[in-house]
Amino acid sequence: MSWKGLIHKYKKFLPVTDKTPIITLQEGNTPLLLSRYLSEKIGLDVYLKYDGANPTGSFKDRGMTMAISKAVEKGVKAVMCASTGNTSASAAAFSARCGLKCIVLIPEGNIALGKLAQAMIHNAQVIAIKGNFDVALNLVKTITDEYPIELVNSLNPFRIEGQKTAPFEICDFLSDAPIFHSIPVGNAGNITAYWKGYKEYKDKKLSTRLPKMLGFQAAKSAPIVDEKIIENPETIATAIRIGNPASWETATAARDESGGLIDKVTDDEILLAYKILAREEGVFVEPASAASVAGILKLNEAGYFKGQKGNIVCTLTGHGLKDPNLAVESIQKPIVIEPDLKTVIKEIGL
Ligand code: F0G
Repeated sequence: MSWKGLIHKYKKFLPVTDKTPIITLQEGNTPLLLSRYLSEKIGLDVYLKYDGANPTGSFKDRGMTMAISKAVEKGVKAVMCASTGNTSASAAAFSARCGLKCIVLIPEGNIALGKLAQAMIHNAQVIAIKGNFDVALNLVKTITDEYPIELVNSLNPFRIEGQKTAPFEICDFLSDAPIFHSIPVGNAGNITAYWKGYKEYKDKKLSTRLPKMLGFQAAKSAPIVDEKIIENPETIATAIRIGNPASWETATAARDESGGLIDKVTDDEILLAYKILAREEGVFVEPASAASVAGILKLNEAGYFKGQKGNIVCTLTGHGLKDPNLAVESIQKPIVIEPDLKTVIKEIGL
């Protein structure tokens, strides 16, 4: 059967009716790759849920197909979000698909080039503010409260509904939930959605167990780990450069109910995982996505998985092409030589 998008596939788990106009880019159904390198290193089967393979290159498409479909059903004319980049790229694309006006507020200078390009080419109204994501989100909340514009950040419950389909796909693929699930944490909507999804599948007896949720924030943007709002969060992983996550409480609930943890990883640890994924697995992710892998490598070093059996799934939230600058800056540049056969052969070392 051909894939028609995640709402079509998981309709019975989602708040849609026959009257809901389904706005889709055929998102979802993303690869779940067994990682040879990480499995050998950790001694458990490590799978990579590569949500960078979604149409706009991030997991946001899962929530956005729901949020935009419901916005159209409601009859709104415009949607708005604050974003570190991926939400705005996705909102812009889905809005373009159905003729909605899309307004995005982004932190000036702190969104990756590819994401900015996406919001612009899809004709969103892009407004950069001299402030960070948390400031932008507060502005968007106030504006969407007061004007007939739909909020499409993950505070919109339909976003969470769409995003909970990733754990459904994982359970369908593995025939059960994994033992551990590792995930980057920024505004904390996705960890909330995964935990909801895993619980619903178990309640419906489509899986027999629940995973321990392992969330990872960037070290200098780790409000949940540090138990305080971070006024000036910093990290190279700009997608998760967030100091006051909107879904803070549901993220800690996922951690505590599952018996998991939320920890932090440094930019160096993120960069190392970023390179390992690219070199050892052929999987190019953006730095924020690598936090899930950096996290399990850190836990492994500390002996956390000792004596454990079974599997770990790491969510890779966004595609590496989103942030081409970082890729080029973090690797040695190609050398430039004369276009001459002998010189090229010598350079290759033949
Ligand atoms: N990874 C990527 C690539 C992201 O873009 C985000 C969030 C996260 C992880 C964290 O997910 O917020 O649900 O905990 N990006 C948002 C945005 C904030 O505006 O695109 P979360």
